[in-house]
Amino acid sequence: MKFFVDTADLDDIKDLADTGLLDGVTTNPSLIAKSGKQFIPLIKEICDIVPGPVSAEVAATDYETMRKEADVLRNIADNVAVKVPLTPAGLKVCKELSDEGTMVNVTLCFSAAQALLAAKAGAAFISPFVGRLDDISFNGLELIADICTIYDNYAYFDTEVLVASVRNPLHIIESAKMGAHVATCPASVIRQLYNHPLTDKGLAAFVEDWKKTGQSIL
Ligand code: G3P
Repeated sequence: MKFFVDTADLDDIKDLADTGLLDGVTTNPSLIAKSGKQFIPLIKEICDIVPGPVSAEVAATDYETMRKEADVLRNIADNVAVKVPLTPAGLKVCKELSDEGTMVNVTLCFSAAQALLAAKAGAAFISPFVGRLDDISFNGLELIADICTIYDNYAYFDTEVLVASVRNPLHIIESAKMGAHVATCPASVIRQLYNHPLTDKGLAAFVEDWKKTGQSIL
């Protein structure tokens, strides 16, 4: 499973890139607003740090403007994935860009029917929002299972399931069990993956016992 970080915070991106385990980055207009930075130079900077796909989202909702914005975004760097909303206009832009070889991430997916449309439009990624479904008492992980099942039925679909709106490690693990290709997560959730109390306890014991040997490896 690939891990993307869902943030526009450069410190978090650099820190996670340094682990060697980060495969990409996703941003959205809310995350850009939170960063307080200029959108286009920020995306360029992120693309220079992380070689994998970096999602940059269009702001317009009408086809003509969205298409023009998409052209600007895809010219920032080769590893930009243009992010479009799951609307008729968004999917039209998705189809055109995908046909031209540009990666497109279709966002704001809340149903299997929408995911089916995105695959037919040639999306590189579909972003179902697990946490926001859970927030309204729908089981977000059931949607991931449905999309994985449907995509598996059609070998000619190249679209990767990018689990979004991730709130906790369980969202990641359950999605991985279903075969979802990517999880995009807040930096804090990626860091949570390392944690287990028995690891801490076991390491403390090993450190103490090693001291008793009086030896040094170096
Ligand atoms: O970037 C899309 C998605 O991951 C947003 O997550 O936490 O705002 O629901 P969230």
